[in-house]
Amino acid sequence: MRKSIGPKKIKTAVFISGKGSNLKNLIKFAKNKRYPFSVDLIFSNTKKAKGLRYSKIYKIKKKVICYDKKIKTDKKILKILTQKKIKLICLAGFMKILSKNFIKKFQGEIINIHPSLLPKYKGLNTHIRAIKNKEKFAGCTVHYVTSKLDSGKIILQKRVKISKKDNHFSLAKKVLKIEHLIYPAAIKKILN
Ligand code: GRF
Repeated sequence: MRKSIGPKKIKTAVFISGKGSNLKNLIKFAKNKRYPFSVDLIFSNTKKAKGLRYSKIYKIKKKVICYDKKIKTDKKILKILTQKKIKLICLAGFMKILSKNFIKKFQGEIINIHPSLLPKYKGLNTHIRAIKNKEKFAGCTVHYVTSKLDSGKIILQKRVKISKKDNHFSLAKKVLKIEHLIYPAAIKKILN
C-alpha cells in the first residue's frame, strides 16, 4: 500500500451498489485533514444505487457501469481509475465480485467492509445467521480484497453485543454504526 506523505491525500474510489451510508461517512472523514485520503470517484454497478446521490451533494465524479460483461467492465473501470490516478479502492456495499485480473492489478490497494467478525460469516445474510446460531457478539471487519471472497488479511475489526431483543434489523443498525467508526480508522491505519 502506498503511504501518504505530508499533506498530500491518497486518491480513493468508493464502489457501491446500494444506500451508501459508508460512502457518505468516508466522504465526511476525508474532508478532515487528519485523514490521509480523498474521495475522488464514486463507482456503482447500478444506477439504482441510492448512494449515487452523494456525487451531486459533495461534487464528486460518479461512474455507473453495469456488470453484464465482467471482463470488459473491469477493463473500462481500470482505465478510469488510472486516468484519475486512484490509488485506493474502498468497497462499501458493492455487490459484485471483481475479476481476478482486476484484483491483481490493484493488489493490496482494494479494501472491503464486511458486516461480520470474519472469518465467521463470509458472504450474505450475516446477521440472520449470527442470530440463528445464538452468537453473543456480532461485528464488522475491514479487510484487504483477494480473489477469495471475504478472506483477505484483516485490517480492523470491532464487535458489538447481540442482545436477546435483537433481530437482524436492529443488529444491522448496530453494526452499521460501528462500521462507520472502523472504516475511516482502517484507511488511516494502512496509509499512515
Ligand atoms: C454494509 O453493512 C457493509 O458492511 C456491507 O453492505 C452494507 C452497505 O451499507 N458490505 P451502505 O450502503 O454503506 O449503507
